Amino acid sequence: MALILVVGATSAMARASAMAWAQQGHSLLLAGRDGEELQRLARDIGVRFRVQARVVAVDLDETEAREDWFDELEFRHGTIDGLLCAAGWMPDSETMRHGEPALQVLQRNLTGPVALINAYADLCERRRSGFIVGISSVAGDRGRQSNYLYGAAKGGFTIYLAGLRNRLDKVGVPVLTVKPGFVDTRMTFGLPGLFLVADPAWVGERIVAAQAAGRNEVYLPGFWRLIMLIIRHVPEFLFKRLSL
Ligand SMILES: NC(=O)c1ccc[n+]([C@@H]2O[C@H](COP(=O)([O-])OP(=O)(O)OC[C@H]3O[C@@H](n4cnc5c(N)ncnc54)[C@H](OP(=O)(O)O)[C@@H]3O)[C@@H](O)[C@H]2O)c1
Repeated sequence: MALILVVGATSAMARASAMAWAQQGHSLLLAGRDGEELQRLARDIGVRFRVQARVVAVDLDETEAREDWFDELEFRHGTIDGLLCAAGWMPDSETMRHGEPALQVLQRNLTGPVALINAYADLCERRRSGFIVGISSVAGDRGRQSNYLYGAAKGGFTIYLAGLRNRLDKVGVPVLTVKPGFVDTRMTFGLPGLFLVADPAWVGERIVAAQAAGRNEVYLPGFWRLIMLIIRHVPEFLFKRLSL
């Protein structure tokens, strides 16, 4: 059975993925900032599925390389067989445009996750085993006035994961990019104008299924692939007049 590291494990989507892996008998390392909530989740998973679930502290605001972090993690817990990075942050559109929040959006959705995945990718490449799943977003498919800082970070993350997939395919290490549409989570709570909102438990289970099926990229739900295809093809002279 595998040991899977879930970063951003308090996210409802990540939680559901962790549960689905636990149900298959895999052990988990649940990583994030909220130690108490992670301990609750670890206990819940341990009781329900009789697998080991342990808690790991990580704050992606720290701008360090993560090689040493992984060395220590594996020294303590053993070889990590897979990584799901679900961490992300999206403040309201006015807040994210300026000053420190703009930089934090890039750090929490792009630079921080990349530092982490980069270090793990090197381990996987050396061992020729492991898997990587990153949660990006449909927001990364085209810049829109309402969230282009978040979109830029997610777009960068999507490109990063695509390049990494290209590199690691040569050593048999799969990389899955997940692009959810709107999902009913803390991140979207109370936001106006949401439509076709998906259930995070369903999304989490689909992530695990897509990884097992060896998919490269999934839109969740799948109809977002068509929506984003249309949005990407709206000519710029028209697009800039819209208020999306
Ligand atoms: N909800 C949507 O509609 C939607 C759509 C597309 C993509 N996504 C993406 O899906 C992923 C999960 O988001 P969610 O909707 O489930 O929202 P969420 O509940 O707010 O989850 C975000 C996760 O990121 C973690 N995180 C944020 N900043 C961090 C930091 N500095 N260091 C470590 N962890 C940090 C949070 O941990 P804490 O508990 O410590 O805050 C939390 O576990 C994110 O990548 C998000 O961008 C969401």
